[in-house]
Amino acid sequence: MRKQLLTKTFILCLIGLRAGCTTPKASNFEIGDKQFLLNGEAFVIKAAEIHYTRIPRPYWEHRIKMSKALGMNSICLYIFWNIHEQEPGVFDFEGQNDVAEFCRMAQKEGMYVIIRPGPYVCAEWEMGGLPWWLLKKEDIALRSQDPYYLERVEIFMNEVGRQLADLQINRGGNIIMVQVENEFGSYGTDKPYIEDIRDMVRGAGFTDVPLFQCDWNSNFKNNALDDLLWTINFGTGANIDNQFRELKRLRPNTPLMCSEFWSGWFDRWGSPHETRSAEALVKGMQEMLEKDISFSLYMAHGGTTFGHWTGANSPPYASWCSSYDYDAPISESGQATEKFYAVRELLAQYSDKALPKVPKALPMIEIPEFELDQTAPLFQNLPAAIQSDQIRSMEFFDQGYGSILYRTTLPAGKAGRQLLVEEAHDWAIVFVDGRRLGTLDRRKAEKVLELPGTEQEAVLDILVENMGRVNYSKTIHDYKGITRKVSVKDGRSQQELSGFEVFRIPVEEALSPRLQFADRTENCSMPAYHKGSFNLDKTGDVYIDMQNWSKGLVWINGYAIGRFWEIGPQQTLFVPGCWLKKGRNEIIVLDMQGPRKPVISGITTPILDMLHSDQEILERNKNTNPDESGYF
Ligand code: GLA
Repeated sequence: MRKQLLTKTFILCLIGLRAGCTTPKASNFEIGDKQFLLNGEAFVIKAAEIHYTRIPRPYWEHRIKMSKALGMNSICLYIFWNIHEQEPGVFDFEGQNDVAEFCRMAQKEGMYVIIRPGPYVCAEWEMGGLPWWLLKKEDIALRSQDPYYLERVEIFMNEVGRQLADLQINRGGNIIMVQVENEFGSYGTDKPYIEDIRDMVRGAGFTDVPLFQCDWNSNFKNNALDDLLWTINFGTGANIDNQFRELKRLRPNTPLMCSEFWSGWFDRWGSPHETRSAEALVKGMQEMLEKDISFSLYMAHGGTTFGHWTGANSPPYASWCSSYDYDAPISESGQATEKFYAVRELLAQYSDKALPKVPKALPMIEIPEFELDQTAPLFQNLPAAIQSDQIRSMEFFDQGYGSILYRTTLPAGKAGRQLLVEEAHDWAIVFVDGRRLGTLDRRKAEKVLELPGTEQEAVLDILVENMGRVNYSKTIHDYKGITRKVSVKDGRSQQELSGFEVFRIPVEEALSPRLQFADRTENCSMPAYHKGSFNLDKTGDVYIDMQNWSKGLVWINGYAIGRFWEIGPQQTLFVPGCWLKKGRNEIIVLDMQGPRKPVISGITTPILDMLHSDQEILERNKNTNPDESGYF
């Protein structure tokens, strides 16, 4: 027994030393009467939600320190299954994905951590954090007791446990609570499923700290388990007493917590930029502090959804912008905003120690305009084709992200026929004999294009871009590419097309040495990769201005930066200085319709609120994309 105790103490010391604490001391966190107890003392959680995936790793420490300077005592974070297990059974918890290190960094700053390992997280993240490959089982019922789904969740949860269970507070770490699932009430009612997830979380080793569920006050009862803590999510402006009324009635002795107090909101392509008032935020926080209600500020710092990791909503389909600034107190590039100072002033009044100084902002740079003078047209750089008689989704071809091209023969016919594409997920350009016919935008439920008369058979190309899988509601079963069929309608007759050649264009294709770049000879309004470079004598954070470009993705020095789309509201992309270098930096842009002018510059202020209507874009493109004036 004594030997066991000594071994345990030794292990705790080791963990503590790894965490940078010289005197590791097992603490504990528990649920008391109407309050949380940290080592037996009443404790109000003031958590900053920040996501390790949305902050470049070299900036983790800065953002944690900023959260502390904001006046918070904890960090709350989701764990994003699909970034850790991109292929079934292949786990990556290293480098940018080293969530355990993120927690340890928070511990060094004296911050506690709440983890939310899902498996579903919502979070405006691709498929709500679920891996796309689950959809390869075509009849899968996600977030249910589907045996395959549960089998995969358990494997993942055990990996999370391997990474993080030893960081629970009583084992020398700083994790004080673990969430089970996420807002299940807006998905369905299924307590047996929630029980399974709870058991898996425990089975993964999270046995020593309270487990909790979060949901809206309107539906939290539907899935609330008796042995878990219940917390409520709501945003600025909510009537806080009303939010907790039912919970207090059912559990008069529970500590109260708003597990997501929304500080702002996120942006979708084609809709106005979202903001929320600092005053309302501070007012709500103050009321909670006065009433000893714990909270987590979602988001204290939103950061950026880099690369292709943005999610979407449906119906109607709407994909999210790459910026996850969220109008949060700490801006996308990590700066203290006015909202930051307003919140800090409030929290200073509720802290027994003086708040630490606000960390210095990281340096920003400008980049003078430079040209991208090399192009690799997509159609001249296609990978080998796969033959498929019928249309199948992207997942069927074992592809998760990027674009997919379906090519087949269009029979000869008179003008007046229509092409019916059911359904292009999420945005498609259609070409007949290599000439652009038009686009189909899932946001607008577009499915039909008028076909030109063709005297002979023609080549029909449908290039479909995946803009992010839906992360909310039952529509998370969101297959990409063309999901049903393609047909030609001629009056009352309808002929389904078959005999496809399918070309997979995954996102990493942009970095493939296979691409043949050549000097730009003319303005290119066809889908193409554009390459250029810029020189820096000092590095720093910067926003690149994409206003001359139409729609696509950007990579710099091999890092996936994000999506751009001329419709806005986001017109700039955040590029962290830690991914830049002195000297030559290389940029690749995949643009689906070609730039008006193939130039980019770097500025210090983001443009997140500039929307353009279809008409405006047509006008702007008239002179630069001659083809746009009508093909046939
Ligand atoms: C809910 C979800 C979060 C996030 C917010 C909106 O509360 O739980 O993951 O999607 O909405 O930002």
